[in-house]
Amino acid sequence: MKPIKEKFGGRLAVIWAMAGSAIGLGNIWRFPYLVGQNGGAAFILIYMAAVVVLALPIFLAESVIGRRSGCDTFGAMNKLAPGSKWKWLGLLTVITPMILLSYYSVVGGWSVEYFFKACCFSFDGNTQGLFARFISSTWAPIITHTLFIAATAAIILLGVKKGIELFTKITMPLLLVLILFLAVYSVLLPGAGKGVEYLVKPDFSKVTADVVATAMGQAFFSLSLGVGTILTYASYVSKKENLMISAGGTAFFDLLFALLAGMVVMPAVFAAGIRPGEGPGLVFDTLPYIFGQMHSVAGGIVALLFFLAILVAALTSSISLLEVGVAFLVQRRHGLTRQKATILLAILTWLAGILCSLSFGPLAHVTILGKTFFDLFDSLCSNWLMPLGGLLFTLFAGWKMSKADVRDELTNGGSCNRTIFGVAYFLIRYVAPVGIVVVFLTNLFL
Ligand code: TRP
Repeated sequence: MKPIKEKFGGRLAVIWAMAGSAIGLGNIWRFPYLVGQNGGAAFILIYMAAVVVLALPIFLAESVIGRRSGCDTFGAMNKLAPGSKWKWLGLLTVITPMILLSYYSVVGGWSVEYFFKACCFSFDGNTQGLFARFISSTWAPIITHTLFIAATAAIILLGVKKGIELFTKITMPLLLVLILFLAVYSVLLPGAGKGVEYLVKPDFSKVTADVVATAMGQAFFSLSLGVGTILTYASYVSKKENLMISAGGTAFFDLLFALLAGMVVMPAVFAAGIRPGEGPGLVFDTLPYIFGQMHSVAGGIVALLFFLAILVAALTSSISLLEVGVAFLVQRRHGLTRQKATILLAILTWLAGILCSLSFGPLAHVTILGKTFFDLFDSLCSNWLMPLGGLLFTLFAGWKMSKADVRDELTNGGSCNRTIFGVAYFLIRYVAPVGIVVVFLTNLFL
């Protein structure tokens, strides 16, 4: 097993790259519509709790396994638990991100389309049905999906430092500025007050077990957990870095972006008198409408910035998904170059993505277990494979690895985090696994 040679350069580079993976469509597209569907502020509070007690421990577990082994998921299992059944966990976490990427890149393609539309200033007040027409057509979404996958592969071909690190270092701060500006803009729209209120005044009467499970699932999705992305990135982290700081920093920025995206979307939705619970179309359907209503160059520019933000966020995430598979292939199949691995996986996910893209049009009636390809892939990943991966990672770090090894990684040989190690270890060993099992049972029976 070849240890990975390339490393991220420094603490900020680590946080930017991990945050780049975490912050994506999950924050800007998925989070706002889930908030809208699940009752606003109360959902946000539950989500925050899920991040701390469930997502952070898994994040730490993956970080520990990744840096300790210095390998991709599969190699990590082989190295830390040689000859055991744990190697299947490695395999699972190579397959899940590929399934995820295939439908993620379809939504990424939608953001490409909307970015182009915004560039042409083509949102006028008349955007009714625009989104539905676009996603149900055959070729246009396939073309944008293709462009999105190609861009993802191009960045990965450049490598860890020149590709991932450079791209995220430039784009993440830009994204923060963009989204801050948009949030201020949105909050100042006439009639936006109701939207702000919706985000800060909790109404717990709407909270059901399903809402809690959704919040937990979103925490997994948003922090890129359970598929080995964080594990793979952690294998590029140098021994000097403090893993708890990179985990805490990533979770902080991820939450910040989700909340800011909520602050961009909800006030605008309320200002336009639209209902927030409309689902996955929320961002694509309502925002162009709102921008279009402004009938001005300013509206056009704001639209452009917004879709640019979504596109950049989606790309920094998709590269992390592709990197997991590439790291695996390059290290497992000696002789397979990074170029070949990237191109091979890009083509496979591109093909699977075409099925997902057509799920809204010509293949809408083709269902498996009552779900279209897109929905099937999404529910397979979010409800099953990611929680399963997360569960197994926490069990691995909490029960299979020795406590001394875990302590060594989390405290850098006893030189930092000594007092909070106990709490973190308790969360990894008991709280997170039990929490995940609860999510499973809820998905199974509700
Ligand atoms: N977290 C990303 C988002 O919010 C998506 C993502 C990237 C992801 N890598 C992942 C999700 C790995 C799960 C696992 O958009």
